[in-house]
Amino acid sequence: MLEGKYGEAKAVAMRLLVTLGEVFEAERMVPVNSVQVSGVSFKTIGEPGLQYLEDLSNKGARSTINATTNPAGMDLRRWRRLGVPEHFAKKQLRIVSAFKKMKISTACTCIPYFAGNRPKLGAHIAWAESSAVTFANSVIGARTNREGGPGALASAIVGRTPLYRLHLSENRKPTHIVNVESQTGSQLEYSALGYAIGERISQSVPLIDGLPRAPNLDELKALGAGMAASGALALYHVRDVTPEARNLREDDYRKLETVTIGSKEIHETLEKLSTTEDFDHVCLGCPHMSLTELRNVATRVSGKKLKKPIWCFTSRNVHSQAQRKGYVNKITKAGGRVINDTCMVVAPLEEMGVHSVMTDSCKAAHYLPSMCKSKVALGTIDQIVESST
Ligand code: F3S
Repeated sequence: MLEGKYGEAKAVAMRLLVTLGEVFEAERMVPVNSVQVSGVSFKTIGEPGLQYLEDLSNKGARSTINATTNPAGMDLRRWRRLGVPEHFAKKQLRIVSAFKKMKISTACTCIPYFAGNRPKLGAHIAWAESSAVTFANSVIGARTNREGGPGALASAIVGRTPLYRLHLSENRKPTHIVNVESQTGSQLEYSALGYAIGERISQSVPLIDGLPRAPNLDELKALGAGMAASGALALYHVRDVTPEARNLREDDYRKLETVTIGSKEIHETLEKLSTTEDFDHVCLGCPHMSLTELRNVATRVSGKKLKKPIWCFTSRNVHSQAQRKGYVNKITKAGGRVINDTCMVVAPLEEMGVHSVMTDSCKAAHYLPSMCKSKVALGTIDQIVESST
C-alpha cells in the first residue's frame, strides 16, 4: 500500500498512519473493523478541509470497513427551515458528498454506538470525536486512541491503525483513583463530575469509586464527555460497572494516588461553566440524545406549550425510533424540535439567531462560548423544562 501498488489514495493514507506509528513508536499496525471520522462540519474544517476531502475522494479513496461520520454543520434535510445560511449549506453538502463517494456512512452522529457502529469488547478500532472515544474505550471496552479526523479517515481507507497507547493492555490500567463523595443523581451532575475529574487529572485513566449507584448508559455517556472536554481523557473505569474494571486486581490500583471529588467540587464546576441565567434557546444532546433521553423530554413536555424552543439533537437512526414511539410528535406539539445530523457546537448557531443557550451538558458549556459566541445556562432536564414552559 505504502508503495502505491493499490493506488494513490491508499498510499497517502498509509503514509499518514506510518508517520503516526513512528512518532508514537508503534511496533506494527493492527487491523481495525470500525472507524468514526470527525472533522465533518464545514464550520470546523473550513475550505482547506473540504479541499482535502474532495481531493482524497477524487484520488479513489474508499472505505473498506464499517465507518461512520461525526455530526455535520446542519440538519441535512431541514437546514433551510432552521435558518442555516445558503453559503454554508452549499459547502456542507459538498463535504457530505465527498464522504459518500468514499463509502463512509454519513450517519452524522457522535453516538455511532447507537446507530449501527458498535464494536465488540476488546476490538481494535480507530475513532475520532472525544466523547465517542471515551464511550468506546470505557463502556464498550473496545480499544482506540483519540484519533484526529485525518488519522481516522486513513484507517477507514486502509483498514489498519498503528498499535500503541490504548491499544495495549498495559496502558489501559488505572493511573488514579477518584473517590466520589457526592450523591450524584442527575445526568447534569454526572457531566459535571466528569468535567471536574478531567480538570484535576488530565490525560489519566481514573478508576471511579464511591458512586451511590451504578450509572446508566446515558449517565456514563455524560460522564465521559465531561472528562474528555476538560482533560482529554479517553478511558475511565467505574468499579463494578465498566467491563475492564471487573478484571482489575488489587495490585493494579493499591498504590495509586487518590483524588476526592464531592458535592462542593461539582457545584463549583456548574457555577464556573454557567455564564447567564437568561437564555433564548434550549439545546439538548451533547453528546447526541439516546432514545431514553428523548422519551424523558417527551414525557415532561407532553401537553405543555413551550415559551422557549427546545432543540433536541440526535442521530437520524434514533430520531426514526423516537418517531415510531410517538416521542417526536409530543416534542414538536409542545413547540420543540428534534434535529438530526448536527449539534449545537458544530452548527453555525450565531448565524441561526441563537445567542444564549440552556443545556444539561458541561461539554457543550465548555465549547459554546468559544465556538458559537453563546452564553450558557446549565440545568437538569426538570429545571430546563420548568424554565421553558
Ligand atoms: Fe457530539 Fe457535538 Fe457534543 S459532536 S459530543 S454533540 S460537541
